[in-house]
Amino acid sequence: MRIDIVSLFPSMFSGPFDDSIIRRAKDNGILDIHILNPRDFSFDRHKHVDDSPFGGGSGMVLKPEPMFRAIRFLMDTTSCERRRVILTSPDGEVFSQQKAKELAVFDQLVFICGHYEGFDARIEELADEVVSIGDYVLTGGELPTMVMVDAIARMLPGVLGSEESAPTDSFYHGLLEYPQYTRPRDYHGRVVPEVLFSGDHAKIAAWRRREALRLTFERRPDLLEKAELTEDDRALLQELKTQQKSSR
Ligand code: ADE
Repeated sequence: MRIDIVSLFPSMFSGPFDDSIIRRAKDNGILDIHILNPRDFSFDRHKHVDDSPFGGGSGMVLKPEPMFRAIRFLMDTTSCERRRVILTSPDGEVFSQQKAKELAVFDQLVFICGHYEGFDARIEELADEVVSIGDYVLTGGELPTMVMVDAIARMLPGVLGSEESAPTDSFYHGLLEYPQYTRPRDYHGRVVPEVLFSGDHAKIAAWRRREALRLTFERRPDLLEKAELTEDDRALLQELKTQQKSSR
């Protein structure tokens, strides 16, 4: 997958994309990341990329020309069959695991990082969609882009070491992930649940499902509305609700 990031702060990307799994995906040729600075497409003497807002108000607004030129340059110099242009903004649709999966099927993703107090509304025209990473305001679109690239990259075939990892992730099946344990079996009196040593795979799978449901019920009950649940799951949830009521 080719990823183009249009950002006024290219150096912000050097750490996160140069280590660990993303670095390996780049080295293996699965990810090809390019960063473009719209300042290089500002043709005025001082390379301005922002200006004061029409109608008054505080702060500066990202100008349309450098951004339009940068995207035009990308369209003219890259040719990928399935391309998606994403504009980062707190006003967008909220990013999710589902969105990461949807975006992972494209050959090229272009991220336009919004910045400063805002951007000229005409810049939205350049994007296929506007995406936010949550209901809070950051100083710019660089961190949201890093978050999204990371989540999308790990959905690409061959990026994660074990093919098992993505399907057991939290959110993949609409539930939080079950708790994991490793050695030592007893850490200062905190013991690993006995069932994990039973060697009975069906029993372990049932315990994990129950724990995933319990955690989701306790921490993110909103997820249960959309999760695919079996009859057994529903019975367990009913039990948890009854327990919750009696402990109040
Ligand atoms: N830019 C500033 N805040 C943002 C957010 N929450 N998501 C995406 N882009 C942003």
